[in-house]
Amino acid sequence: MNQIAVIGSGTMGNGIAHTFAQFGYNVNLIDVNESALVKALDTIDKNLNRQVTKGTLTTDEKASTLARITTYSSLKAGVENADLVVEAATENLDLKLNIFRELDANAPQHAILASNTSSISITHIASVTKRGAQVIGMHFMNPVPVMKLVEVIRGYATSDETTAKVMELSTKLAKTPVEVNDYPGFVANRILMPMINESIYTLFEGVAGVQEIDTVMKLGMAHPMGPLQLADFIGLDVCLAILNVLHEGFGNPKYAPCPLLVNMVRAGKLGVKSGEGFYNYA
Ligand code: CAA
Repeated sequence: MNQIAVIGSGTMGNGIAHTFAQFGYNVNLIDVNESALVKALDTIDKNLNRQVTKGTLTTDEKASTLARITTYSSLKAGVENADLVVEAATENLDLKLNIFRELDANAPQHAILASNTSSISITHIASVTKRGAQVIGMHFMNPVPVMKLVEVIRGYATSDETTAKVMELSTKLAKTPVEVNDYPGFVANRILMPMINESIYTLFEGVAGVQEIDTVMKLGMAHPMGPLQLADFIGLDVCLAILNVLHEGFGNPKYAPCPLLVNMVRAGKLGVKSGEGFYNYA
C-alpha cells in the first residue's frame, strides 16, 4: 500500500493526511470545497512546524511530507489510483452512505475502503458497497499526528485479510492499533461519551462549575484535559450525535444526552470551532 486517498479536509482529514505523508505515503487529499483544501494545507504546514520546532522532524522531512500531499476537489479523480481510502467526512449517515457508493464505483477493485467514523455502523456503511470484505473502520484520535491509538473496527463482513493489512499499516504510522467489533460507539466512544455526558449532567444539576469539574478530572484522574474542555475540543455537535447513536443503538436511557448539551447545540454553541462552548475561545 503506497497511495492513500483521504476524503474530507477538516480537523481529522488533515491530521490523517499529515500522518500518512509524514510516514512516506503519497496522499490525495479530497474535499468538494476548494477553500477548505487551502485551509487544510495551511493547518498541516503549521502542525509540521510544531514538530520542526520541537526537533522531532527536520525541515527537509517537513518539505518532503508536504510534497507527498496532492489536493483534489473531485472524488473520482482523487481515488482512481488509491490502494486505501480513508473517509473523514462530516459525521452524517446519509452523506457517508453516498460517499461509499461513489467510492465503490470509482476506487480500484483491490482498494480497501476505510471510514474514520466515530460511531456510525461500519456494517451499515459496507452494505451499500459490493466489497463488504474490504470495508473497515480506521478511527484516529484528535490530534491525529500526536495521539497513538487507531481503533480498527471490523464490520460484520470485514475479512481477516483486510483487518490484518489495516493493523499492519497503522503500526507503520507509529500508532498502536486495537481491533474491536462493530457495535454502537465501538469501544472509545462507548466509554468516553457517557463520561462527558455525566460531566455535563454534573454541571446541569449545579453540583459544581465548569472549572471545578474539569480540575477534579485533570488533577484527580490525570486526564490531560477535563471532560468539559475535551467536549469543546471534540465539538458539542459531535458529542451529541455520538450519544444519540448510543441511545438509539442500545435503547438504554443511561445514554440519553443531557438536556443542557441538546440546548447548547441548538443555540450553535459547539465548542472550539464556534468560538464558544463550556469555555470561551473568542
Ligand atoms: N499536530 C502535531 N503536533 C501537535 C498537534 C497537531 N495537531 N497538536 C499538538 N501537538 C503537539 C505539540 O507540538 C506538543 O508536542 P510535544 O509534546 O512533543 O512538545 C504536544 O502535541 C502537546 O501539545 P501542547 O503542548 O500544545 O498542548 P498540551 O500539552 O496541552 O497537549 C493535547 C495537547 C495533545 C491535545 C492534550 O491536551 C491531550 O492529549 N488532550 C486529550 C486529547 C484527546 O483525548 N483526544 C481524543 C479525543 S476523542 C477523539 O478524537 C475521537 C472521537 O471519536 C470523539
